[in-house]
Amino acid sequence: MKDVYILGIESSCDETSVSIVKNGSLEIATVTNTQIDIHKEYGGVVPEIASREHVKNVTIIIEECLRQANMTIDDITAIAVTYGPGLVGSLLVGIEAAKTLAYVNNKPLVPVNHMTGHIYANNLTRKMSFPLMALVISGGHTELVYMKNHYQFKRIGATLDDAVGECYDKVARVINVNYPGGPTIDKWAHEGNDSYPLPLPLNDNTYNFSFSGLKSAVINLVHNETQRGNEIRKKDLACSFQNVVVEVLVKKTMKAIKDYQVNNLIVAGGVAANKGIRERLESDCRKEKINLTVPEFRFCTDNAAMIAASGYYAYLRGDRADLTLNANSSLDLDK
Ligand code: KG4
Ligand code: ZN
Repeated sequence: MKDVYILGIESSCDETSVSIVKNGSLEIATVTNTQIDIHKEYGGVVPEIASREHVKNVTIIIEECLRQANMTIDDITAIAVTYGPGLVGSLLVGIEAAKTLAYVNNKPLVPVNHMTGHIYANNLTRKMSFPLMALVISGGHTELVYMKNHYQFKRIGATLDDAVGECYDKVARVINVNYPGGPTIDKWAHEGNDSYPLPLPLNDNTYNFSFSGLKSAVINLVHNETQRGNEIRKKDLACSFQNVVVEVLVKKTMKAIKDYQVNNLIVAGGVAANKGIRERLESDCRKEKINLTVPEFRFCTDNAAMIAASGYYAYLRGDRADLTLNANSSLDLDK
């Protein structure tokens, strides 16, 4: 079969990213501009500012990606673009850029769900083997997804309230850590001691998760200690918090693997960068002889290589969009 080169565009939140991937697994070039420093000041992503920044950067990044790949648009087989879920104004910038590129150069336009991108980030590390279980953990999602084959997503469990990344960011905020707080909490967790008692959230037999109770427990603990005039041992709190998160995520994931009788586990989303989660999954999977794949750190948070990788399989199965393609901020994985 002729080689397929997908140019992917990702702009669902605060990263403008363009990447070229060969045959769904080999990264040729990726250029990403993150706006984190701009949004930090506000403690979170400001949608209007995010879309304006995407507009400023997207064409420059497309050109730079082609330059770094030493390719022209003629070498590209198809254009893949994230059309949801995410911030509508941000998504629309990437979608318009992709539409223009596809229309002017007469290339197929392939719509990609951002969450499938996070899952297919794993394919850039090692070709995915099926059936598999995917633990999808990001700023907006916490899901267990069973996949019998490519592009067959069956969500078997999800968070009933906050996503795990959101919970990390809120806990970080209450102890004055800059947005996004996940990486700092993760680092501190390895430097502190588990000495604050916190409840294990939704410790039941389902595959669902709940993090708002844990978040409230941390906020109450911080307020009570502050009122008593006690200083918060931030590294100990980070460690206690992370241990609870890791415990519940890993416990439910390992149960899902057993119940669905799969041998392959992949981890997806920004929180997949978490060292505590990786370490614990590595040791549990070793014991249970499960093949674990985690994406490279740079492919865990939002990037276009994962969109191009997922876009390749979407392209093969014939997914196409025309110039009416619109953003869908709450796009589901099973759709
Ligand atoms: O997947 P992502 O880049 O954006 C969404 O699609 O949501 O995930 C961003 C989330 C943020 O909440 C961030 O705090 C979290 O991933 N994150 C981490 C770590 N690195 C990023 N959370 C915990 N530990 C980390 N090392
Ligand atoms: Zn994401």
